[in-house]
Amino acid sequence: MTNELKGKVNYSVNGNIAILEVDNPPVNPLSSGVRAGLSEYIAKANNDESIEGIILTGAGRSFIAGADISEFGQKPDGPDLHTALKEIEFSKKPVLAAINGTALGGGLETALVCNYRMGTNKAIVGLPEVNLGLLPGAGGTQRLPRLIGPSQALKMMIAGTPMSAKKALQQGVIDAISENSLIDDAIAFLHEKIGLNLIEHPKVRDKNEKVLEARGDDNVLSEAKALAAKTRRGQFAPGQIIACVEAAINEDDFDVGMKKESEYFLECLVNPQREAMIHIFFGERAASKISDIPKETPLLPINSAGIVGSGTMGGGIAMNFANAGIPVLVLDQDEKNLERGMGVIEKNYQMMVDRGRMTQEQKDMVLGLITPTLSYEDLSDVDIAVEAVYENLELKQEIFKSLDAVTKDHAILASNTSGLDIDAIASSTKRPGKVVGTHFFSPANVMRLLEVVRGKDSSDETMATVMSIGKRMGKAAVVSLNAPGFIGNRMLAGYTYQANMLLLEGALPNQVDSALESFGMSMGPFRMMDLVGLDLGWRARKLANIETPLANKISDALCEQDRFGQKTSKGFYNYSEGSRAPNPAPENEAIYKEISSQNNIERREISDQEIIDRCILALVNEGARILEEGVAQRSGDMDIVYINGYGFPIWRGGPMFYANQLGLSEVINKMSAFSKLDENFWKPAPLLQKLADNSGAFGEAPAPEERAQLLSFNKANMGGV
Ligand code: 3HC
Repeated sequence: MTNELKGKVNYSVNGNIAILEVDNPPVNPLSSGVRAGLSEYIAKANNDESIEGIILTGAGRSFIAGADISEFGQKPDGPDLHTALKEIEFSKKPVLAAINGTALGGGLETALVCNYRMGTNKAIVGLPEVNLGLLPGAGGTQRLPRLIGPSQALKMMIAGTPMSAKKALQQGVIDAISENSLIDDAIAFLHEKIGLNLIEHPKVRDKNEKVLEARGDDNVLSEAKALAAKTRRGQFAPGQIIACVEAAINEDDFDVGMKKESEYFLECLVNPQREAMIHIFFGERAASKISDIPKETPLLPINSAGIVGSGTMGGGIAMNFANAGIPVLVLDQDEKNLERGMGVIEKNYQMMVDRGRMTQEQKDMVLGLITPTLSYEDLSDVDIAVEAVYENLELKQEIFKSLDAVTKDHAILASNTSGLDIDAIASSTKRPGKVVGTHFFSPANVMRLLEVVRGKDSSDETMATVMSIGKRMGKAAVVSLNAPGFIGNRMLAGYTYQANMLLLEGALPNQVDSALESFGMSMGPFRMMDLVGLDLGWRARKLANIETPLANKISDALCEQDRFGQKTSKGFYNYSEGSRAPNPAPENEAIYKEISSQNNIERREISDQEIIDRCILALVNEGARILEEGVAQRSGDMDIVYINGYGFPIWRGGPMFYANQLGLSEVINKMSAFSKLDENFWKPAPLLQKLADNSGAFGEAPAPEERAQLLSFNKANMGGV
């Protein structure tokens, strides 16, 4: 093997069986050296007369994690994947895929060119290419429908969600599960097949029965189209996947289907959505790393957790721990609240059982890990305690004082605050190094985003441990410095400000929401405000005796008429009883007009493009400030925040990636056109201006020395958001 190629395949022989082991740590993607190794060793095994069968397996925890994603958009070295797979498929000796771990994308496609497939009971198989803006381009769209039927295959490829070995066996993706030693069982299986003296061992490409059954059945494709429209709005790849399966159903010649798959794959490859989604794949992995904390930092063992507060957030956070297999105590000082909170947790799990997302057995298992308690003393042994009460600094400080007194010295104390000063909370303890912010998003058991807030004293071990717990929970964890609004809510402020100003200037809520939803946002800002409740800000302003700012005048006026949003069935929209579907509220238009005129704002026609530009570029400009201050480590972190916490379309790669794609000088041009509306708001962040002047793009946060020159961060503003 030449040295420049990445990854390798190990070759060994056990009796009359050759064993090819893909070795490309940590997850064995099909990089150049792996493709070359497969070709070389399939030929070697075929040329060796003493060999009668071949086993293909993976080293370490993965079988093959798919094509090497870092190669997309680059010119790949070594042989191409199709050639290597063809050599496996047309091997003279039977080939068995011994699936020792994850077989994803090109990994499963490799297994599908083998004659037989056996997995361990921990094996996971799937075709997740759609999550990267791609389709399974190594025969998956042609072979999987032949194996499990077009309908199931389409569901699997559009969802992109992997399945367990047990399910894969039920569906016929694999032929057997090994309960003992995988390689021993695989050898025995192959010996049995060799003993049959078959003229030819089965090939998936020849199994035409299931695709022929679907020929002429329009439902198969129309159901898939409906699924794609519902779950993958705006995405390019799902339609291409459906077109490939259509070819699998209708083309008599397997190779014609394969040719179409290659054409459609190429179209995905050059589509900008592919680049955006791969940016998010690597961005999420980059976000989990903290630039100045060494990789080898020891993690503190987390075997038990405690949550303070049994409300919606506390309950959701407890579910996250339980789902990750960590026993968790839920503390509330009010017995009734605690009972109610546990009831909500039980109901949430039951809903998952009812929807087929978990079995009754799994529910009993996770629920059994959650224990209610009324006493702080019970938290004395936990490794981490997460406080999840309402936003009040004094209350949180009191709780941290109690936690500090009761828990062991090694325990991490985390606050689920959405905007309070972590350092101020840490100062109420004797262990500020163990204090950190964990900002979960509601509902915490569903939303993937977790902002991990780094206090000035949070230790390396604390940060590394909390990031690793985030990963165990399946969260997209992003580090934020302890600065007002952290990352997400700080960016959101400018976005909603612009939406509110557009309303004052002449747009209607429905127009603003529709424009942003067609841009790809999962929910427009006015629908979002109605969902959250317009009364929260209104009440807070009343309580603090603050005059209503211009941008909030309309929402406060709606509150004066008891239009609080969904909770009162009327806000910016009207809602019918029990429904969340918004209906226009023409009766509000008089209020909009009146408030515009009271404030000397002449209402005008506003284009959808202006709505999109003003709202999205508001995110970008604030994102640039967050980056120049080093509050976020890199621009990709903000993309992860917006996609996982705020409904930004993944296929646009997040707001900062979107700005890079647009070109930062174009961003500046658009912003300067808006500056006549509001000069102060549209002043470009110094970093944005600097990058635009140098034809640069957002990336890593500037080095600390450079930050000092750009910085505008004001700790005195720290407060609830
Ligand atoms: N190519 C290149 N690098 C990959 C990779 C791949 N397919 N899969 C994972 N990696 C890298 C990650 O970037 C990460 O690198 P880092 O350590 O430098 O950050 C490292 O491998 C470990 O990955 P994870 O942190 O994600 O490890 P986990 O153990 O948490 O998860 C996994 C393992 C489930 C395999 C997960 O990595 C994963 O989902 N990988 C992607 C699978 C996928 O989408 N495959 C399809 C690829 S496209 C394709 O096959 C096209 C074909 O149809 C032609």
